[in-house]
Amino acid sequence: MRCVSIKDRKQFEIKEINEPVSDGKNVIIDVKKTGICGSDIHYWVAGEPKGLVMGHEYVGIVSDPGSRDDLKPGDRVTALPISPCLECHACRSGNPQYCIHTWDNATGLSLTNPGALAPKMAIRPDMVVKVPDNITDEEAAMTEPTAVGLHAARLADIKVGDKVLVIGGGIIGLVCAMFAKMEGASLVVVSETNKARGQKSVSLGVADEWMDALDPKFLEKVMYKTGAGFDKVIECCGNEPAVSSALATVKTGGTVVLVGVSLTPVSIPTAIAVTHELVLKGAIAYTVEEFRTCIELMSNKKIDMLKFLDSVVGLDDVQSSYEKLTSGTSDAVKIIVDPNK
Ligand SMILES: NC(=O)c1ccc[n+]([C@@H]2O[C@H](COP(=O)([O-])OP(=O)(O)OC[C@H]3O[C@@H](n4cnc5c(N)ncnc54)[C@H](O)[C@@H]3O)[C@@H](O)[C@H]2O)c1
Ligand SMILES: [Zn+2]
Ligand SMILES: [Zn+2]
Repeated sequence: MRCVSIKDRKQFEIKEINEPVSDGKNVIIDVKKTGICGSDIHYWVAGEPKGLVMGHEYVGIVSDPGSRDDLKPGDRVTALPISPCLECHACRSGNPQYCIHTWDNATGLSLTNPGALAPKMAIRPDMVVKVPDNITDEEAAMTEPTAVGLHAARLADIKVGDKVLVIGGGIIGLVCAMFAKMEGASLVVVSETNKARGQKSVSLGVADEWMDALDPKFLEKVMYKTGAGFDKVIECCGNEPAVSSALATVKTGGTVVLVGVSLTPVSIPTAIAVTHELVLKGAIAYTVEEFRTCIELMSNKKIDMLKFLDSVVGLDDVQSSYEKLTSGTSDAVKIIVDPNK
Protein backbone atom coordinates (compact mmCIF):
# COMPACT_ATOMS: atom_id res chain seq x y z
CA MET A 1 0.00 0.00 0.00
CA ARG A 2 1.06 3.62 -0.53
CA CYS A 3 2.16 5.61 2.48
CA VAL A 4 3.93 8.86 3.30
CA SER A 5 7.15 8.50 5.30
CA ILE A 6 9.96 10.78 6.49
CA LYS A 7 12.88 10.82 4.03
CA ASP A 8 15.03 13.72 5.18
CA ARG A 9 14.87 17.19 6.74
CA LYS A 10 11.54 18.71 5.68
CA GLN A 11 11.17 15.95 3.12
CA PHE A 12 8.64 13.20 2.78
CA GLU A 13 8.55 10.37 0.27
CA ILE A 14 5.67 8.32 -0.96
CA LYS A 15 6.57 4.66 -0.84
CA GLU A 16 5.06 1.20 -0.74
CA ILE A 17 4.87 -0.73 2.53
CA ASN A 18 3.20 -4.00 3.43
CA GLU A 19 -0.37 -3.88 4.64
CA PRO A 20 -0.71 -4.75 8.34
CA VAL A 21 -1.77 -8.33 8.97
CA SER A 22 -3.94 -9.57 11.77
CA ASP A 23 -2.22 -11.11 14.80
CA GLY A 24 -5.53 -11.91 16.47
CA LYS A 25 -5.07 -9.03 18.93
CA ASN A 26 -4.54 -5.78 17.08
CA VAL A 27 -7.52 -4.01 15.54
CA ILE A 28 -7.00 -3.46 11.79
CA ILE A 29 -8.72 -0.42 10.32
CA ASP A 30 -9.20 1.15 6.92
CA VAL A 31 -8.11 4.71 7.59
CA LYS A 32 -10.61 7.35 6.50
CA LYS A 33 -9.02 10.56 7.76
CA THR A 34 -5.85 11.57 9.59
CA GLY A 35 -4.87 14.95 10.98
CA ILE A 36 -1.53 16.72 10.67
CA CYS A 37 -0.29 17.70 14.14
CA GLY A 38 2.23 20.32 15.29
CA SER A 39 4.25 17.50 16.89
CA ASP A 40 4.48 15.76 13.52
CA ILE A 41 5.95 19.01 12.21
CA HIS A 42 8.89 18.73 14.67
CA TYR A 43 9.76 15.27 13.28
CA TRP A 44 9.40 16.49 9.69
CA VAL A 45 11.63 19.52 10.37
CA ALA A 46 14.28 17.28 12.02
CA GLY A 47 13.95 14.66 9.26
CA GLU A 48 14.07 11.98 11.95
CA PRO A 49 13.42 9.19 12.45
CA LYS A 50 13.83 8.31 8.78
CA GLY A 51 11.16 5.95 7.53
CA LEU A 52 8.61 7.03 10.15
CA VAL A 53 5.03 6.83 8.90
CA MET A 54 3.26 9.51 10.93
CA GLY A 55 -0.45 10.05 11.58
CA HIS A 56 -1.62 9.70 15.20
CA GLU A 57 -4.95 11.60 14.89
CA TYR A 58 -7.21 9.37 12.89
CA VAL A 59 -10.55 7.73 12.27
CA GLY A 60 -11.21 4.53 10.34
CA ILE A 61 -13.46 1.58 9.73
CA VAL A 62 -12.72 -1.71 11.47
CA SER A 63 -11.81 -4.45 9.02
CA ASP A 64 -10.56 -6.90 11.66
CA PRO A 65 -11.60 -6.40 15.31
CA GLY A 66 -8.72 -8.54 16.63
CA SER A 67 -9.25 -9.31 20.32
CA ARG A 68 -11.99 -6.70 20.77
CA ASP A 69 -15.19 -8.76 21.19
CA ASP A 70 -17.29 -5.59 21.33
CA LEU A 71 -16.23 -4.48 17.84
CA LYS A 72 -17.25 -5.80 14.45
CA PRO A 73 -16.12 -5.12 10.89
CA GLY A 74 -17.67 -1.86 9.69
CA ASP A 75 -17.54 -0.07 13.08
CA ARG A 76 -16.09 3.43 12.99
CA VAL A 77 -13.31 4.03 15.51
CA THR A 78 -10.53 6.32 16.61
CA ALA A 79 -7.83 5.57 19.20
CA LEU A 80 -5.37 6.97 21.68
CA PRO A 81 -2.00 6.68 19.93
CA ILE A 82 -0.08 5.97 23.15
CA SER A 83 1.49 2.69 24.32
CA PRO A 84 1.24 2.60 28.13
CA CYS A 85 2.58 -0.48 29.99
CA LEU A 86 -0.58 -0.73 32.17
CA GLU A 87 1.53 -1.99 35.09
CA CYS A 88 3.39 1.02 36.48
CA HIS A 89 2.07 3.42 39.10
CA ALA A 90 1.13 6.02 36.47
CA CYS A 91 -0.87 3.55 34.43
CA ARG A 92 -2.64 2.12 37.47
CA SER A 93 -3.57 5.61 38.68
CA GLY A 94 -5.37 6.42 35.42
CA ASN A 95 -2.54 8.57 34.06
CA PRO A 96 -1.09 6.56 31.16
CA GLN A 97 0.32 9.81 29.78
CA TYR A 98 3.01 9.70 32.50
CA CYS A 99 4.03 6.10 31.82
CA ILE A 100 7.67 6.00 30.72
CA HIS A 101 6.74 3.55 27.97
CA THR A 102 3.82 5.56 26.64
CA TRP A 103 5.68 6.90 23.58
CA ASP A 104 7.94 3.86 22.96
CA ASN A 105 5.53 2.24 20.52
CA ALA A 106 3.09 5.10 20.02
CA THR A 107 1.12 4.75 16.80
CA GLY A 108 2.38 7.16 14.15
CA LEU A 109 5.11 8.42 16.51
CA SER A 110 7.41 5.37 16.55
CA LEU A 111 9.02 3.16 13.93
CA THR A 112 7.41 0.09 15.51
CA ASN A 113 3.83 1.20 14.86
CA PRO A 114 3.26 2.98 11.54
CA GLY A 115 0.57 5.64 11.64
CA ALA A 116 -2.38 6.73 9.58
CA LEU A 117 -0.65 8.37 6.60
CA ALA A 118 -1.52 5.10 4.88
CA PRO A 119 -4.85 3.49 3.94
CA LYS A 120 -4.62 0.71 6.54
CA MET A 121 -3.18 0.42 10.02
CA ALA A 122 -2.99 -1.87 13.04
CA ILE A 123 -3.90 -0.49 16.47
CA ARG A 124 -3.35 -1.84 19.95
CA PRO A 125 -6.83 -3.09 20.91
CA ASP A 126 -7.19 -1.43 24.33
CA MET A 127 -6.59 2.03 22.86
CA VAL A 128 -9.45 1.83 20.34
CA VAL A 129 -12.55 3.95 21.01
CA LYS A 130 -15.85 3.71 19.10
CA VAL A 131 -17.07 6.88 17.43
CA PRO A 132 -20.75 7.88 17.65
CA ASP A 133 -22.67 8.21 14.36
CA ASN A 134 -23.44 11.89 14.82
CA ILE A 135 -19.89 13.16 14.53
CA THR A 136 -18.11 13.46 11.21
CA ASP A 137 -14.90 11.69 10.25
CA GLU A 138 -13.07 15.00 10.40
CA GLU A 139 -14.31 15.69 13.95
CA ALA A 140 -13.38 12.18 15.06
CA ALA A 141 -9.88 12.68 13.63
CA MET A 142 -9.57 15.84 15.74
CA THR A 143 -10.32 14.11 19.06
CA GLU A 144 -6.64 13.83 19.92
CA PRO A 145 -5.63 17.52 19.63
CA THR A 146 -8.90 18.47 21.34
CA ALA A 147 -7.95 16.30 24.29
CA VAL A 148 -4.49 17.91 24.41
CA GLY A 149 -6.16 21.32 24.73
CA LEU A 150 -8.65 20.13 27.34
CA HIS A 151 -5.88 18.60 29.48
CA ALA A 152 -3.77 21.78 29.29
CA ALA A 153 -6.71 24.08 30.07
CA ARG A 154 -7.62 21.91 33.07
CA LEU A 155 -4.04 22.11 34.34
CA ALA A 156 -4.20 25.90 34.03
CA ASP A 157 -6.96 25.72 36.67
CA ILE A 158 -8.84 28.65 35.18
CA LYS A 159 -11.18 30.49 37.54
CA VAL A 160 -14.23 32.45 36.41
CA GLY A 161 -12.99 35.95 35.60
CA ASP A 162 -9.36 34.99 34.97
CA LYS A 163 -7.41 36.75 32.25
CA VAL A 164 -5.71 34.12 30.12
CA LEU A 165 -2.97 34.40 27.51
CA VAL A 166 -2.42 31.58 25.04
CA ILE A 167 0.95 31.84 23.29
CA GLY A 168 0.74 30.40 19.77
CA GLY A 169 -2.37 30.19 17.62
CA GLY A 170 -1.84 26.79 16.04
CA ILE A 171 -4.55 24.17 16.56
CA ILE A 172 -3.34 23.39 20.09
CA GLY A 173 -3.36 27.04 21.13
CA LEU A 174 -6.79 27.59 19.58
CA VAL A 175 -8.27 24.60 21.41
CA CYS A 176 -6.72 25.80 24.69
CA ALA A 177 -8.26 29.24 24.07
CA MET A 178 -11.65 27.64 23.36
CA PHE A 179 -11.60 25.69 26.64
CA ALA A 180 -10.28 28.72 28.58
CA LYS A 181 -13.39 30.63 27.48
CA MET A 182 -15.66 27.71 28.33
CA GLU A 183 -14.12 27.59 31.79
CA GLY A 184 -15.09 31.20 32.42
CA ALA A 185 -12.07 33.33 31.56
CA SER A 186 -13.15 36.98 31.25
CA LEU A 187 -10.40 37.73 28.75
CA VAL A 188 -8.68 35.30 26.40
CA VAL A 189 -5.82 36.66 24.32
CA VAL A 190 -3.79 34.73 21.75
CA SER A 191 -0.28 35.98 20.95
CA GLU A 192 1.16 35.07 17.56
CA THR A 193 4.12 35.82 15.31
CA ASN A 194 1.92 34.94 12.31
CA LYS A 195 -0.60 37.77 11.83
CA ALA A 196 -2.96 35.62 9.75
CA ARG A 197 -3.21 33.02 12.51
CA GLY A 198 -3.56 35.71 15.18
CA GLN A 199 -6.47 37.32 13.34
CA LYS A 200 -8.03 33.92 12.78
CA SER A 201 -8.07 33.18 16.52
CA VAL A 202 -10.41 36.16 16.91
CA SER A 203 -12.53 35.55 13.79
CA LEU A 204 -13.12 31.94 14.91
CA GLY A 205 -14.41 33.29 18.21
CA VAL A 206 -11.97 31.48 20.52
CA ALA A 207 -9.96 34.59 21.44
CA ASP A 208 -11.30 38.00 22.46
CA GLU A 209 -8.18 39.64 21.08
CA TRP A 210 -4.87 38.71 19.55
CA MET A 211 -1.50 40.35 20.11
CA ASP A 212 1.51 40.53 17.83
CA ALA A 213 4.34 38.71 19.64
CA LEU A 214 6.88 40.50 17.41
CA ASP A 215 5.66 43.98 18.42
CA PRO A 216 8.55 45.68 20.33
CA LYS A 217 5.91 47.09 22.71
CA PHE A 218 4.33 43.66 23.31
CA LEU A 219 5.16 43.47 27.03
CA GLU A 220 4.23 47.09 27.64
CA LYS A 221 0.86 46.45 25.98
CA VAL A 222 0.29 43.31 28.07
CA MET A 223 0.82 45.28 31.28
CA TYR A 224 -1.43 48.10 30.05
CA LYS A 225 -4.18 45.61 29.19
CA THR A 226 -4.00 43.46 32.31
CA GLY A 227 -2.68 45.78 35.00
CA ALA A 228 -0.25 43.25 36.42
CA GLY A 229 -0.01 40.43 33.90
CA PHE A 230 -2.24 37.49 32.97
CA ASP A 231 -3.58 35.18 35.68
CA LYS A 232 -2.81 32.12 33.55
CA VAL A 233 -0.56 31.68 30.52
CA ILE A 234 -0.68 28.59 28.33
CA GLU A 235 2.43 28.25 26.14
CA CYS A 236 1.70 26.37 22.90
CA CYS A 237 4.86 26.86 20.78
CA GLY A 238 7.86 25.40 22.65
CA ASN A 239 10.56 27.72 21.32
CA GLU A 240 12.75 29.89 23.57
CA PRO A 241 11.20 33.32 22.88
CA ALA A 242 7.73 31.90 23.41
CA VAL A 243 8.58 30.19 26.71
CA SER A 244 10.39 33.32 27.92
CA SER A 245 7.40 35.48 27.04
CA ALA A 246 5.18 33.15 29.08
CA LEU A 247 7.25 33.94 32.16
CA ALA A 248 7.25 37.66 31.40
CA THR A 249 3.50 38.01 30.78
CA VAL A 250 2.08 36.08 33.75
CA LYS A 251 1.31 37.97 36.95
CA THR A 252 3.18 37.46 40.20
CA GLY A 253 2.17 34.09 41.66
CA GLY A 254 0.43 33.16 38.39
CA THR A 255 0.48 29.87 36.56
CA VAL A 256 2.25 29.01 33.32
CA VAL A 257 1.32 25.77 31.56
CA LEU A 258 3.96 24.52 29.13
CA VAL A 259 2.39 22.56 26.28
CA GLY A 260 4.78 23.38 23.43
CA VAL A 261 7.49 20.82 22.74
CA SER A 262 11.12 21.49 21.90
CA LEU A 263 13.36 18.64 20.78
CA THR A 264 16.36 20.59 22.11
CA PRO A 265 16.73 22.28 25.54
CA VAL A 266 15.54 25.89 25.78
CA SER A 267 16.97 28.42 28.21
CA ILE A 268 14.51 30.47 30.24
CA PRO A 269 14.83 33.44 32.64
CA THR A 270 14.48 31.47 35.86
CA ALA A 271 15.02 34.68 37.86
CA ILE A 272 11.51 35.79 36.85
CA ALA A 273 10.04 32.47 37.97
CA VAL A 274 11.88 32.76 41.30
CA THR A 275 11.18 36.40 42.08
CA HIS A 276 7.54 36.22 40.93
CA GLU A 277 6.93 32.85 42.63
CA LEU A 278 5.44 31.43 39.46
CA VAL A 279 3.85 28.04 39.14
CA LEU A 280 5.27 26.23 36.09
CA LYS A 281 3.43 23.13 34.95
CA GLY A 282 4.11 20.82 32.04
CA ALA A 283 1.15 19.34 30.20
CA ILE A 284 1.46 16.10 28.31
CA ALA A 285 -1.28 14.49 26.27
CA TYR A 286 -4.48 13.55 28.11
CA THR A 287 -6.08 10.90 30.23
CA VAL A 288 -8.33 8.22 28.73
CA GLU A 289 -11.26 9.98 30.38
CA GLU A 290 -10.36 13.32 28.71
CA PHE A 291 -10.08 11.64 25.31
CA ARG A 292 -13.58 10.17 25.73
CA THR A 293 -14.92 13.48 27.08
CA CYS A 294 -13.83 15.24 23.88
CA ILE A 295 -15.79 12.75 21.76
CA GLU A 296 -18.81 13.38 24.00
CA LEU A 297 -18.43 17.17 23.75
CA MET A 298 -18.43 16.92 19.94
CA SER A 299 -21.32 14.45 19.92
CA ASN A 300 -23.41 16.67 22.25
CA LYS A 301 -22.56 19.71 20.10
CA LYS A 302 -20.95 21.50 23.05
CA ILE A 303 -17.90 22.23 20.93
CA ASP A 304 -17.48 22.75 17.21
CA MET A 305 -14.14 21.44 16.00
CA LEU A 306 -15.05 21.62 12.33
CA LYS A 307 -14.55 25.37 12.32
CA PHE A 308 -10.80 24.78 12.69
CA LEU A 309 -10.60 22.58 9.59
CA ASP A 310 -8.96 24.21 6.56
CA SER A 311 -8.79 21.46 3.96
CA VAL A 312 -8.77 17.74 3.28
CA VAL A 313 -5.93 16.59 1.01
CA GLY A 314 -4.61 13.34 -0.45
CA LEU A 315 -1.25 11.63 0.22
CA ASP A 316 0.36 13.45 -2.72
CA ASP A 317 -0.36 16.79 -1.05
CA VAL A 318 1.08 15.98 2.39
CA GLN A 319 4.47 17.56 1.58
CA SER A 320 2.94 20.84 0.37
CA SER A 321 0.54 20.86 3.33
CA TYR A 322 3.46 20.73 5.80
CA GLU A 323 5.11 23.56 3.88
CA LYS A 324 1.91 25.58 4.14
CA LEU A 325 1.49 24.92 7.86
CA THR A 326 5.07 26.08 8.54
CA SER A 327 5.08 29.06 6.16
CA GLY A 328 4.64 31.53 9.01
CA THR A 329 2.15 33.49 6.88
CA SER A 330 -0.71 31.11 6.09
CA ASP A 331 -3.78 31.14 8.33
CA ALA A 332 -4.25 27.36 7.90
CA VAL A 333 -4.19 25.54 11.24
CA LYS A 334 -5.71 22.13 10.57
CA ILE A 335 -5.19 20.09 7.44
CA ILE A 336 -6.60 16.59 7.34
CA VAL A 337 -5.37 13.84 5.03
CA ASP A 338 -7.55 11.30 3.28
CA PRO A 339 -5.08 8.49 2.50
CA ASN A 340 -7.43 7.10 -0.15
CA LYS A 341 -7.60 10.34 -2.10
N1 LIG B 1 2.33 18.61 25.36
C1 LIG B 1 1.59 17.88 24.55
O1 LIG B 1 0.99 16.88 24.92
C2 LIG B 1 1.47 18.30 23.12
C3 LIG B 1 0.54 17.69 22.27
C4 LIG B 1 0.42 18.15 20.96
C5 LIG B 1 1.24 19.18 20.52
N2 LIG B 1 2.15 19.70 21.38
C6 LIG B 1 3.04 20.79 20.98
O2 LIG B 1 2.33 22.01 21.08
C7 LIG B 1 2.89 22.95 20.16
C8 LIG B 1 1.78 23.56 19.33
O3 LIG B 1 1.18 22.60 18.50
P1 LIG B 1 0.40 23.10 17.18
O4 LIG B 1 -0.09 21.89 16.48
O5 LIG B 1 -0.56 24.15 17.53
O6 LIG B 1 1.67 23.70 16.40
P2 LIG B 1 1.84 24.84 15.31
O7 LIG B 1 3.26 24.76 14.88
O8 LIG B 1 0.78 24.72 14.29
O9 LIG B 1 1.57 26.21 16.12
C9 LIG B 1 2.55 26.92 16.81
C10 LIG B 1 2.26 28.40 16.60
O10 LIG B 1 3.12 29.18 17.43
C11 LIG B 1 3.43 30.38 16.73
N3 LIG B 1 4.62 30.97 17.35
C12 LIG B 1 5.93 30.64 17.17
N4 LIG B 1 6.70 31.40 17.97
C13 LIG B 1 5.88 32.22 18.67
C14 LIG B 1 6.10 33.22 19.66
N5 LIG B 1 7.33 33.53 20.09
N6 LIG B 1 5.01 33.84 20.17
C15 LIG B 1 3.76 33.55 19.74
N7 LIG B 1 3.50 32.63 18.79
C16 LIG B 1 4.55 31.96 18.27
C17 LIG B 1 3.61 29.93 15.29
O11 LIG B 1 3.43 31.00 14.38
C18 LIG B 1 2.50 28.89 15.16
O12 LIG B 1 1.30 29.44 14.66
C19 LIG B 1 3.94 22.18 19.34
O13 LIG B 1 5.22 22.40 19.91
C20 LIG B 1 3.54 20.74 19.55
O14 LIG B 1 4.62 19.84 19.42
C21 LIG B 1 2.28 19.31 22.65
ZN1 LIG C 1 -1.47 15.29 17.75
ZN1 LIG D 1 2.93 2.33 32.61
